[in-house]
Amino acid sequence: MRENVMAATAATVTYDHRALVIDGKRKILISGSIHYPRSTPEMWPDLIQKSKDGGLDVIETYVFWNGHEPEKNKYNFEGRYDLVKFVKLAAKAGLYVHLRIGPYACAEWNYGGFPVWLHFVPGIKFRTDNEPFKAEMQRFTAKIVDLMKQEKLYASQGGPIILSQIENEYGNIDSAYGAAGKSYMKWSASMALSLDTGVPWNMCQQGDAPDPIINTCNGFYCDQFTPNSNNKPKMWTENWSGWFLGFGEPTPYRPVEDLAFAVARFFQRGGTFQNYYMYHGGTNFERTSGGPLISTSYDYDAPIDEYGLLRQPKWGHLRDLHKAIKLCEDALIATDPEITSLGSNLEAAVYKTSSGSCAAFLANIGTQSDATVTFNGKSYRLPAWSVSILPDCKNVAFNTAKINSATESTAFARQSLKPDGGSSAELGSQWSHIKEPIGISEADALVKPGLLEQINTTADKSDYLWYSLRMDIKGDETFLDEGSKAVLHIQSIGQVVYAFINGKLAGSGNDRTNISLDIPINLVTGKNTIDLLSVTVGLANYGAFFDIIGAGITGPVSLNSAKTGSSMDLSSHQWTYQVGLKGEDTGLGSGDSSEWVSNSPLPTNQPLVWYKTTFDAPSGSEPVAIDFTGTGKGIAWVNGQSIGRYWPTSIARTDGCVGSCNYRGTYRNDKCLKNCGKPSQTLYHVPRSWIKPSGNTLVLLEEMGGDPTKISFATKHTGSNLCLKVSESHPAPVDTWTSDSKFSNRTSPAVLSLKCPVSTQVISSIRFASFGTPTGSCGSFSHGRCNSARSLSVVQKACVGSRSCKVEVSTRVFGEPCHGVVKSLAVEAVCA
Ligand code: GAL
Repeated sequence: MRENVMAATAATVTYDHRALVIDGKRKILISGSIHYPRSTPEMWPDLIQKSKDGGLDVIETYVFWNGHEPEKNKYNFEGRYDLVKFVKLAAKAGLYVHLRIGPYACAEWNYGGFPVWLHFVPGIKFRTDNEPFKAEMQRFTAKIVDLMKQEKLYASQGGPIILSQIENEYGNIDSAYGAAGKSYMKWSASMALSLDTGVPWNMCQQGDAPDPIINTCNGFYCDQFTPNSNNKPKMWTENWSGWFLGFGEPTPYRPVEDLAFAVARFFQRGGTFQNYYMYHGGTNFERTSGGPLISTSYDYDAPIDEYGLLRQPKWGHLRDLHKAIKLCEDALIATDPEITSLGSNLEAAVYKTSSGSCAAFLANIGTQSDATVTFNGKSYRLPAWSVSILPDCKNVAFNTAKINSATESTAFARQSLKPDGGSSAELGSQWSHIKEPIGISEADALVKPGLLEQINTTADKSDYLWYSLRMDIKGDETFLDEGSKAVLHIQSIGQVVYAFINGKLAGSGNDRTNISLDIPINLVTGKNTIDLLSVTVGLANYGAFFDIIGAGITGPVSLNSAKTGSSMDLSSHQWTYQVGLKGEDTGLGSGDSSEWVSNSPLPTNQPLVWYKTTFDAPSGSEPVAIDFTGTGKGIAWVNGQSIGRYWPTSIARTDGCVGSCNYRGTYRNDKCLKNCGKPSQTLYHVPRSWIKPSGNTLVLLEEMGGDPTKISFATKHTGSNLCLKVSESHPAPVDTWTSDSKFSNRTSPAVLSLKCPVSTQVISSIRFASFGTPTGSCGSFSHGRCNSARSLSVVQKACVGSRSCKVEVSTRVFGEPCHGVVKSLAVEAVCA
């Protein structure tokens, strides 16, 4: 068992032209990204086990500097940041680890993973040949390497870490840094090597990574990639399994047929290491989401969903793919492929060893039509945009477009919660509140002429910065129209602005990088206050110089007459600043305060109110979400733990969604979108381990105004329906391949196999079954012109009453309902 060996025995990890070499043996490695702070330690064992069951060999993660060193020299390796525990859990499951130390991560993570204090180090310039930056980067990188060494986590010490990454995709942007960028890149490489981990280092998207650092590929496809030396293996560090969600954006997804196609093409063309980014995306808790405007969910359409449930058939189809690739391992590691054309858009790759193993990949990269090819004297039907894998160069074990795994629905079940105290009232009847003061509440607030950039001012201690101005108005100013009306113009570089005039919300706006507001306002003769609340929603994490893009109301801010156009620029006036809100300062998120007001009507739809309630745990053990529909925007805490920013009123743009996405053809991050015109995110994950059986506190800081009594809880569960359609031309399930059947001539028929996801459940009924030419998709199957009359009874007999069943998809079983047509079996089954 590797588990035992790993504790004791060191492994040597090297590489050559073909692959990473572990203890002298080249390896085909399937990897998946799980970022430890995007879930909880309580979730890690299950996520890791599901990764292993899905056929992964390696877990890949970034290391999140700002999580580990929130203040300079004050380290945090606890809780969700317990990196050592995470790596050990992967080892315990028998998995390797690829540790991407960076320490720049990107990752849609706040400030790309850099701690914001780094920005204030005198003379610093990020990611270039700058001594202060290099000193800090080296210190942190060495800190992580030392920690891993102390815990004996490198493979060279008997641990699971077989590879480390330095920097991240620097080659994509290094030209912006000129010659200093090049020398920084070289310095990073030698600094990393000097840390002597005993295992190889990689740089991703760095075509000129110096030896012996392996340059690796990131992208939706990497089959065309070649490393910069013939002594380095072809490795893929980020195969995007979907894409991230932004507030105001529709939800991206990537069809598994295309994802599997991309993976198979990579191995077809000589790749030996492939990583899914993400395999489990998880959640951006607290204020960890990057930006601007990255949502709190980081689901990513990954094979394991945000809540830790399997996304089917994505997970299952990829598991089958991994099995098929592993059946080819001996041939794959032995040699380079011999690639030949089988016609236009048709390509064969053959891996043949001197000892007689042979594996082949047959691809149809055309997007329109299926094709029949002749390979080694046999005929094969290749669907458009698909790869068939032949572990023996004869029989097809897997085709990327033919799914043998059932679709399992997942669903949220609403839970009406009783508030703590056992009263029969529902959640929401026991809300209390505290009003956040509008404008400056601190006694010693900062006063400065001119408009300050936000990150320089807040150091990102809070999302919030007040810009306040007091003005005396005589009434005859030329920028005023009758009745002391004026138009307040505000220019901000992001991401949200609320304008309060004399304590009342007058207008607001939001944008990634450019807010331009013209708000009609009424001033009064005498004293007036203009309080502008500027709010960041995740600091930028990508691009050259992202660290100095900045945020906030950089101006101009002016008062204008709508009639005459006469105006007064306020930008250089004496502004008063306050970083953060009073309630943040006094720690209202924890719920403990004597100031909560509960015996008066709850103010709703008012800006800047803190709300609190208590609740008992939703029943069961399933993952929990809060549906924030009814509220506006803010931050929420459960038992003092920030679950992140909520913003259900951020509506996805209405264009760009497609009814059903054609997986054939090159994928882009905006190719397959859903949820247009709807809130980008209404459901927010609350990890089970943060909830007690009773007496839980939920606190929200509502910025824009909403009704917290509309909030509801939901639990996410795997639905009871299983759906699958398998044609006679599907390869037999890859599980039926055994090493002795591998080299025999196989003519196994297609099989439809189903299994209830929950071990205590059995298939209780068959909603639909048709062998013939059924149409439609899961949930809406219907009979086609051709249908075997025995369809339902055969499937019922095979399946009902059992947790799992297998039905051969052939006329032998179903009779012949129509000659000369390729028939399919479609089944929808119910588990109970
Ligand atoms: C890559 C980057 C990742 C992540 C990804 C998009 O460019 O390396 O960290 O940001 O894009 O999800």
